[in-house]
Amino acid sequence: MKTVNDQWNANLYDQSHSFVSQYGTDLVQILAPKEYETILDLGCGTGDLANAIKGFGSRVIGVDKSANMIEQAKKKYGDISFEVRDAAALGFVEEFDAVFSNATLHWVQPPEKALRSIYQVLKQGGRFVAEFGGKGNVQAITDEIIKQIKAEGIEFADEQFPWFYPSIGEYTCLMEKAGFRVTFAQHYGRPTQLDGEQGLQNWIEMFGSQLFIGIDEAAKKHIISRVERGLKETLFDEGNWYADYKRIRVVGVKE
Ligand code: BEZ
Repeated sequence: MKTVNDQWNANLYDQSHSFVSQYGTDLVQILAPKEYETILDLGCGTGDLANAIKGFGSRVIGVDKSANMIEQAKKKYGDISFEVRDAAALGFVEEFDAVFSNATLHWVQPPEKALRSIYQVLKQGGRFVAEFGGKGNVQAITDEIIKQIKAEGIEFADEQFPWFYPSIGEYTCLMEKAGFRVTFAQHYGRPTQLDGEQGLQNWIEMFGSQLFIGIDEAAKKHIISRVERGLKETLFDEGNWYADYKRIRVVGVKE
């Protein structure tokens, strides 16, 4: 998970946004790793879910586009292999029984390229198990940020939107075109608590920096405080913020 410049602060990610991997433990249950399997964790971040998969006795390799994340993962879990790799150009060939990916694929475009790459790394009969942002994901937040950027007199073009949030209809079609037999697909809402008064601001700083490229710090601060004001009524409750996450979960088999 990442962009051209490494925007990720791996310490901050572990300290304040560990909910990302905590929510991913359900997906590990869906993966149901077996002892004899070799599994690729695509977008492994700082390695917590790769380590959970290893706990089932499987061999795991974790890859992430962020060198910062990989450095931290290696420090935390010295007995797991972690490498910097791009989801759209993984480069392995038919080496894995499963590809597992949590909270990553909404960053990767074009999705067709990532799916081709995932298909290539799987053995015949191998499975792809993923969860990421689906249609409407955090839309209240991103709509409000874009509205407030424009209210500052700053242009925001559709192409600047950094994420891909498909419906399950769209994504399962892409999976089939890539050669997968889709065995499971789900689109569900998962309101996500962002702790404390600063929760929304911290989330925007951690995950939304690409929306503010070219905007100076003072204007960014001003925009974020207007976003907080605009969303308080709907997303703030009893001292915490709640982000309007919507996820898709998919499972496909390489045929
Ligand atoms: C997500 O996991 O859905 C997400 C994370 C960061 C930015 C946008 C979406």
